[in-house]
Amino acid sequence: MKKNIRNKVVIASNNKDKVEEIKGYLSRISVKTIPSYELNIPEPEETEKTFKGNALLKASHTAKLTNLPSLGDDSGLVIPALNGKPGIFSARWGGPKKDFNLAMKKVNKKLMGKNNFAWFVCSIAIVFPNNRYNIFEGRVYGNLTWPPRGKYGFGYDPIFIPLGYKKTFGEMKKEFKENISHRSIAFNQFFEIIKFF
Ligand code: IMP
Repeated sequence: MKKNIRNKVVIASNNKDKVEEIKGYLSRISVKTIPSYELNIPEPEETEKTFKGNALLKASHTAKLTNLPSLGDDSGLVIPALNGKPGIFSARWGGPKKDFNLAMKKVNKKLMGKNNFAWFVCSIAIVFPNNRYNIFEGRVYGNLTWPPRGKYGFGYDPIFIPLGYKKTFGEMKKEFKENISHRSIAFNQFFEIIKFF
């Protein structure tokens, strides 16, 4: 198993920004990465009802087609006062143009007068060709603010202030956010576990 993961991992995503970010985390361990788009593997439709389910779906689909260990992820913003929305639909709230100013306005409108507590989730799944798999999940808790602040990051970053900080994710430089984010928490769990593979 050790040999397997150390050799090559396919990153099951067609999103170049996401692949670059995941490559950055994986560079902490010596593993060769191949994005699934370089192998012409289409992303499956995200039909599951949970972040973990969707991460596993993407990774299993790619592992089956490549016969290589594959890593899939799914992430989003959960707002308890909106019954968990946008949740697994976080990307879709940006509409076909992926306009997150629009998505943030939608959040603000629906949240009027309600509790602004929220969290980001990132689930990652690694699936091996023999169907063995592991799933990891990171969360970062915080509060939503309005108007949006900051020029860094993406998605809902400008309206999210992590607990214990005064700045939004949008006001934090990439390197800083990457140390405290839901994605970094999930990858750190993954790195702890692969020591034993
Ligand atoms: P997916 O993981 O590709 O399905 O996309 C998740 C969506 O959740 C993104 O398009 C963002 O809108 C949102 N999201 C996930 N992680 C973050 C983050 O770190 N900052 C801001 N928005 C995020």
